[in-house]
Amino acid sequence: MAPRDESCKVNMKDISLIGFMGCGKSSVGRILATLLPECRLIDLDTYIEEKQGKDIPEIFNEYGEAAFRRMEREALEEIFSDSARPRAILSLGGGTVTSESCSQLIRRHSDCFYLRATTETLLGNLDGHSEGRPMLSSAQPARKETLRHRIESLMQARSPQYLATAHHIIDIDGLTFAQIAALIKECVETNVLKIKEYSFPL
Ligand code: S3P
Repeated sequence: MAPRDESCKVNMKDISLIGFMGCGKSSVGRILATLLPECRLIDLDTYIEEKQGKDIPEIFNEYGEAAFRRMEREALEEIFSDSARPRAILSLGGGTVTSESCSQLIRRHSDCFYLRATTETLLGNLDGHSEGRPMLSSAQPARKETLRHRIESLMQARSPQYLATAHHIIDIDGLTFAQIAALIKECVETNVLKIKEYSFPL
């Protein structure tokens, strides 16, 4: 696949948001899009749902997780090779980086922010909201402890993948979505790149 624009400056790369389910990627992406109006917001799950004409649980049910991961990779290839579109803010899925090829595409073609959260924060955000998330479906919504164990075991496997993919890490515990979006805007606009960790305020 041809890179979107070999000559583009680092600070004009697309912006991608990664992190575990419930960390706020979609909400932060929506706010960031209002702060950076020249950018177009692309939510990878929505992109895939529209392309398939099915929602995420239907895709998992009918085709399985491996097929969904392929769809994520194909969607990223399409998005990154479209040189005609405006700069994108990409809200990715919580498991997109579990595929090595997706991780490499994200790292190469975007300035990638990992919204890192503790289990407590994730549990607070996901409790009562695990429906529609097939990777959490084994955790019965009524059983908070089951959900906690599911988050912990997935996080153990995924944490190295988030860290290996991200150019920047934001510890989001206690921050509002608006604060997180403001941090990302600041980082993107001041060209403070390749600094791995942020706390609020900058
Ligand atoms: C997934 C996360 C979901 C969605 C799919 C798989 C995962 O996105 O892509 O259900 O494997 O963590 P969100 O992180 O937006 O919930």
